Amino acid sequence: MALDTLTTRLLPASTAAIAEAARVLAAGGLVAFPTETVYGLGADAGNGEAVARLYAAKARPVFNPLIAHVGDVAAARRLAQFNDAAERLAAAFWPGPLTLVLPRRTGGGVSDLACAGLDSIAVRVPAHPVALALISAFGGPVVAPSANRSGHVSPTSAAHVLADLDGRIDLILDGGATAVGVESSIVSCIGAPTWLRPGGVAREAVERVLGTALAERHPAPRDGDAGDDAEAPLAPGMLQSHYAPAARIRLDATAACNGEALLAFGPDVPAGAAMTLNLSPRGDLTEAAANLFSHLRALDASGAATIAVMPVPRTGLGEAINDRLARAAAPRP
Ligand code: TXA
Ligand code: MG
Repeated sequence: MALDTLTTRLLPASTAAIAEAARVLAAGGLVAFPTETVYGLGADAGNGEAVARLYAAKARPVFNPLIAHVGDVAAARRLAQFNDAAERLAAAFWPGPLTLVLPRRTGGGVSDLACAGLDSIAVRVPAHPVALALISAFGGPVVAPSANRSGHVSPTSAAHVLADLDGRIDLILDGGATAVGVESSIVSCIGAPTWLRPGGVAREAVERVLGTALAERHPAPRDGDAGDDAEAPLAPGMLQSHYAPAARIRLDATAACNGEALLAFGPDVPAGAAMTLNLSPRGDLTEAAANLFSHLRALDASGAATIAVMPVPRTGLGEAINDRLARAAAPRP
């Protein structure tokens, strides 16, 4: 497939459009669809050629494996081996913004390319009616990374997807803005349960269900180290500078300097920015997560050279918000 030569259709996510999207997937095409976290770019998990087109459309490194999206835990058990911890987490958080990394079952039907050759697999059951209806209509696992070009901010609306992938994918199902706004949390249940990526489920909630503290991924990413996704991946997509707007990002800002755009949080916002958007005027972390990527995109589109970001608490969903902000601020490769 030559890039930028497809006609990308944008359809409201009606029953008919979902049925059409399932046909496109079955024919090896690429469909962007809403989940409760961010929009995903879906392909037939079992079709290696479709998965190759997906990597090309995103300009994604081929060694970075994809999450298989399924309709329920029974379908997930056909792809992966569940231990006790995995069963408990699935029961507590699915459908929902948690991805489990588990030993991969042979014959599960997910192509090697989608798993980047690993003997583990990432699976999740999304909590969005359009995503679940699409998986059901297609009748098998759908692999889907976030529907942005590799290295760009994840899309939380159909318009964001179109801005990044117009001409590179077949169809976008428009289901409105996503509710959670940051990607799923990722927990590996291979060996001791390990926290691979903070996201839409808070670490504290996962630890409460497990009854133990999560292990940390090792080695932890170092500041300014853009190379943590190369050879032996744990969460290989966790490139340090991953969520990059064009503007420079200045963290922990308590004032806005000349010409800067300001990403604010909470009721007390300093004056003087060229443009200000508030993640949550009432200081609510769930609301802030939902607004994070769309506010970053809008401030970036203002053309400001720097986006100053006010401090956001690190508890609950604040861990994922701070993680994405730190990546956006990291030096670019
Ligand atoms: O909320 C989400 O998770 C969204 C929606 C669309 O579901 N998806 C998403 O996918 O964020 P993506 O591809 O942008 O991020 C998936 C992460 C990557 O960091 C990837 O390296 C990691 O999951 N991953 C996938 N398979 C893995 C595996 N077997 N072991 C460790 N990490 C894995
Ligand atoms: Mg992504």
